[in-house]
Amino acid sequence: MASATSYILFLSIFSSVLARGAAQPRHSNISLETSLHPTTNPTSWLSPSGRFAFGFFPEGTGFSIGIWLTAPHQNTTVIWTADRDDLPVTKDAELKLTNEGLKLLLQDSEVRLIAQNTSASTDAFSASMLDSGNFVIYDSNFDVIWRTFDHPTDTIMAGQVLPAGSELVSSITETNHSSGKFQLIMQNDGNLVMYPVESSDNPWDAYWSSGTYLQGYQSLNLDDRGRLYMLHDNVTHDLTSGFQNRTTLVYRATLDVDGIFRLYSDDLESNTQHILAEFPKSTDPCQIKGTCGVNSYCTSTDGQAVCKCLPGFDYLDGDEKSSGCTRFFATSPCNLNNDNTTYMYTLENVTWLLDCYAAPMPETSKEGCGEACLKDCNCHAALFQSGSNTCIKQALPMKYGVIDSSTTTFIKLVNMSAGGRRDGSQAGSPGAGPDIPTKQKLSSTILIVSVAAVTGIISALAALMFFSCRYPAGRYRRVGRNREPALADEIAPRSFSYHELREATDGFKEELGKGAFGTVFQGTLPGGERLIAVKKLEKVVEEGEREFRTEMRTIGRTHHKNLVRLLGFCDEGTSRLLVYEFMSNGSLADLIFKADGHPDWDERVRIALDIARGIHYLHEECETRIIHCDIKPQNILMDDNWTAKISDFGLAKLLMPSQTRTFTGIRGTRGYLAPEWHKNAPITVKADVYSFGIVLLEIVCCRKNMELEVEEDAIILLDWVHHCFMDGELEKLVPDEVDMTELNRLVKVGLWCTQSEPGSRPSMKNVVMMLEGNVDISLPPPPGFSS
Ligand SMILES: *[C@@H]1O[C@H](CO)[C@@H](O)[C@H](O)[C@H]1NC(C)=O
Ligand SMILES: *[C@@H]1O[C@H](CO)[C@@H](O)[C@H](O)[C@H]1NC(C)=O
Ligand SMILES: *[C@@H]1O[C@H](CO)[C@@H](O)[C@H](O)[C@H]1NC(C)=O
Ligand SMILES: *[C@@H]1O[C@H](CO)[C@@H](O)[C@H](O)[C@H]1NC(C)=O
Ligand SMILES: *[C@@H]1O[C@H](CO)[C@@H](O)[C@H](O)[C@H]1NC(C)=O
Ligand SMILES: *[C@@H]1O[C@H](CO)[C@@H](O)[C@H](O)[C@H]1NC(C)=O
Ligand SMILES: *[C@@H]1O[C@H](CO)[C@@H](O)[C@H](O)[C@H]1NC(C)=O
Ligand SMILES: *[C@@H]1O[C@H](CO)[C@@H](O)[C@H](O)[C@H]1NC(C)=O
Ligand SMILES: *[C@@H]1O[C@H](CO)[C@@H](O)[C@H](O)[C@H]1NC(C)=O
Repeated sequence: MASATSYILFLSIFSSVLARGAAQPRHSNISLETSLHPTTNPTSWLSPSGRFAFGFFPEGTGFSIGIWLTAPHQNTTVIWTADRDDLPVTKDAELKLTNEGLKLLLQDSEVRLIAQNTSASTDAFSASMLDSGNFVIYDSNFDVIWRTFDHPTDTIMAGQVLPAGSELVSSITETNHSSGKFQLIMQNDGNLVMYPVESSDNPWDAYWSSGTYLQGYQSLNLDDRGRLYMLHDNVTHDLTSGFQNRTTLVYRATLDVDGIFRLYSDDLESNTQHILAEFPKSTDPCQIKGTCGVNSYCTSTDGQAVCKCLPGFDYLDGDEKSSGCTRFFATSPCNLNNDNTTYMYTLENVTWLLDCYAAPMPETSKEGCGEACLKDCNCHAALFQSGSNTCIKQALPMKYGVIDSSTTTFIKLVNMSAGGRRDGSQAGSPGAGPDIPTKQKLSSTILIVSVAAVTGIISALAALMFFSCRYPAGRYRRVGRNREPALADEIAPRSFSYHELREATDGFKEELGKGAFGTVFQGTLPGGERLIAVKKLEKVVEEGEREFRTEMRTIGRTHHKNLVRLLGFCDEGTSRLLVYEFMSNGSLADLIFKADGHPDWDERVRIALDIARGIHYLHEECETRIIHCDIKPQNILMDDNWTAKISDFGLAKLLMPSQTRTFTGIRGTRGYLAPEWHKNAPITVKADVYSFGIVLLEIVCCRKNMELEVEEDAIILLDWVHHCFMDGELEKLVPDEVDMTELNRLVKVGLWCTQSEPGSRPSMKNVVMMLEGNVDISLPPPPGFSS
């Protein structure tokens, strides 16, 4: 109620401001030193026809600067906001056009530049609010040096272009124009995609896309007939066909507060507003990912979303239930045998949009699924899908929860009455314990009892597995370098202080490279001569220490000859650093794509097998199954002995949204992504199999998956390989003389791995067997090229 009242109050203030603005003479030419004030006239500059105003408008208890449609219908439409994430200013602010640009003068002689073009060689000279809704600043030659159309917030107007690499971000509410929860990105890969802002912009985060991945589109456009379309050169892809072209109609497309991108027409004559199109066209707000925050699930009644916390969790912000939930008790540490305070709570009919990190365990029973999670220190929750009888372990935070009658969620909780401890950092949180219905309590108890019976057996098995993973067949230890320090024998990676790592890298002096996750520096282990690579993560999901450490333990416990070893980490303050063994011979990309020379055939076959074995280990061996998600030659490193090792496994999870723009870009343009990434289909281990298939063909042919300086039918490697395979001309593919039987085998494996249907691709286990030449390989069907 309070918000409704303030909204009405806001409207009345706003309309009175508008009314005063409308009484002003119409400026279309703003000269230097002209200024505006929030409460004394003029408060805005109008466009020649008076339909748009630029200036101060009331927001909260202060004023913001922006552009709005002046049509005085009830709800005023702000189409652009300056510095939207700054606090509103007070009534004694002054906005002035100076030769540096638009200057905002505040109390205590604080000055902010609202609009300036630092690369312009000429000074600002005049400005104009145009009838298109564009506010422009000119130099003395009347060349435009700055315009709001280049800095969109949540709206594009007719005539405005959203170029590749730019985005719209929704507002928080209708009356608070700060950056909200949703974004629409015109991606460099030609796809127009909507994601929640708080996400990694990975394909599985998207809730709508234009489906034009890699079709070359370079911009999103809106014309004065209301046609919304994407464009490259003279090719267009229409999102809406045109409507009327009338001078009283104003077309605009806004990414609204609820995450839906809407095309509106405002008729200035009749003061009406119409919605002409919506993307996505959905009546269920729960379909918009990010409507509910982490660890909460979305239910909807009559088109209204209601976000509910997981049991044992509480709203991060009680006034803003969509902002997500946090656990108010920590789960107890992992002493599995003598801990009877941890149990699995059963939540029926709720599912979570899966991310890529946990592979499903096939063929489990519903009970077995909860048990498996209870036993696994890294598991916080498990999903059981009754249709396919699969069980998927999950770590926190859980995202995109929705109602789905085929799935059961199990959440690990601590039983307070059985002596569970409160999480120290959360002490003082409300509630004395999870609010659990009696019936549920009963079923959990039954579960625990039945669990107890098999606990002994399973923990024995788990222990066995743990040790066999750690020393696969005893080989790791013996084959290891003789100067292997004691560190390598520790079970968990070591925790370093920031100071130690600064010393180790000589003040982060020698940069080895930059990747999607941050910068890598060379260093030497304290007190030894062992070389290390220190990866400084630029920004990771702010999950707190516990989650970071859990993650590090998972990664650190994953040992295999063909995986780059994580030796330690640092999580001091906001710093997150990872310490890896140093790989002296660069990446596979350096090796196979370099212009002068390439490894010989036997070497290439061996490297392919190395990689396949590494991925097989991630997918199918050891306790935590990991989908890599980003297999590509740049992520495969070569050690002193030219053994290929996979790096960055398990890391995609730590990425923050701001960094992932490049991440998505790299993935999008390189062509290692399986087709299901673009279809919003569930991602399984088979996505890695696809990427491996592409890498395998690259290794075989010593060329990139896409090359422009070749004849036309050879541009896309996969097409080219299939073509040569069908024509029996495999020798065309390789740069050297090779064993044709082996070549035939590797190509067949590559073609099987890159089948567009995930189910048709072999498992990595089969891939290893096929590469080793131990099984016959049938003729692969043509790879699908569906997008
Ligand atoms: C804008 O105003 C300035 C001075 O007020 C004048 O010199 C200039 O010619 C005007 N420009 C236009 C396009 O009217
Ligand atoms: C808008 O919302 C943000 C985030 O909740 C808040 O910090 C800011 O003060 C709000 N602005 C106004 C004018 O209420
Ligand atoms: C104004 O906004 C309210 C609530 O957001 C909406 O119900 C109403 O239809 C809007 N009126 C117009 C004229 O757009
Ligand atoms: C800055 O001004 C120059 C002309 O002086 C123009 O070419 C450039 O596009 C402007 N940059 C922006 C971001 O508006
Ligand atoms: C697009 O432009 C190219 C050359 O610039 C021309 O050959 C082609 O016919 C044009 N296509 C259309 C649909 O106008
Ligand atoms: C709409 O009308 C204006 C003027 O009447 C004209 O300049 C413009 O080209 C028209 N736009 C379209 C897309 O037809
Ligand atoms: C387990 O439960 C029993 C009684 O049910 C209790 O005496 C014992 O202290 C509990 N153990 C732990 C580790 O909490
Ligand atoms: C779950 O969904 C099924 C089928 O829609 C329904 O029969 C059952 O009552 C639901 N269970 C709960 C706990 O809501
Ligand atoms: C919690 O512990 C109490 C006391 O040990 C026990 O009676 C109760 O069944 C437990 N609840 C669950 C859900 O395990």
